[in-house]
Amino acid sequence: MPIRQTDILQDISPRINPDVNPYVAKMTAALTDGSIPVLQGSALGGCKGNWRATFDRLHAMRGRTPSGEKRPLIVEIGCHLGLTLNEMAGNHPEADFIGMDITFKRVVTAAERSARQGHRNVATILGNARGMDAIFADGEVDGFVIFFPDPWMKRAQSKHRLVDGEFATLLSRKLAPGAFVWMKTDQEGYWKDAREAFLQAGFKPTEPVDFFAGRIYESTFERRFRLQGLSAHGGHMRKPAAQAN
Ligand SMILES: C[S@@+](CC[C@H](N)C(=O)[O-])C[C@H]1O[C@@H](n2cnc3c(N)ncnc32)[C@H](O)[C@@H]1O
Repeated sequence: MPIRQTDILQDISPRINPDVNPYVAKMTAALTDGSIPVLQGSALGGCKGNWRATFDRLHAMRGRTPSGEKRPLIVEIGCHLGLTLNEMAGNHPEADFIGMDITFKRVVTAAERSARQGHRNVATILGNARGMDAIFADGEVDGFVIFFPDPWMKRAQSKHRLVDGEFATLLSRKLAPGAFVWMKTDQEGYWKDAREAFLQAGFKPTEPVDFFAGRIYESTFERRFRLQGLSAHGGHMRKPAAQAN
């Protein structure tokens, strides 16, 4: 069941029967014993503006020691089961990665995958990305990754899209000056509208950002669409270095 409430700091687990959804029980255990790096509700209190310390705490039992250095913070919106998130995290031990999604199964599975792969730089969050103001300080994020965010194929369904003008403005506010968004979608019209929304929010189109070193990161849905003969549309947008938050 997707959790669409935008109050990310509100606890959800107590309202759902763990016998019906086994991922709720896994989430509840993880919030108590730190067995996997997944967060939800009040466990996210105090994270805003403090993500590097939060990663140090979440991964202390996996041998992470506080470095004191500023580490890039990359957020994947709609991380699904964590394939791309963990691939990126494995390629970038110098950065921290947060995956957000709206089902227990997806964020728990993504966190399990991260623990299995031994990453010390991944956390997943159960929460609607529209509510991210509660968990990220303005200028705290160094990059957003949004791959195939919406299944809405018909024009009439476009009002349900995640990436619109309001969301582009929110992303801009949360990004540091000079930071980026990388979006991909199967729908050419969605990318056209999203690109316009990013431009209106002050973003500038850019070549693929150096951070990813030319890697393509074919996501689960991108692969599915490619096998159906559908191509991906999208690109990288950068918040100007001089733009105030
Ligand atoms: C079509 S899937 C794409 C998954 C993955 N990014 C990929 O490319 O394979 C869209 C994902 O976005 C998630 N999602 C949809 N709306 C969201 C929202 N408001 N906040 C966070 N995640 C969301 C869905 O639960 C789903 O996992």
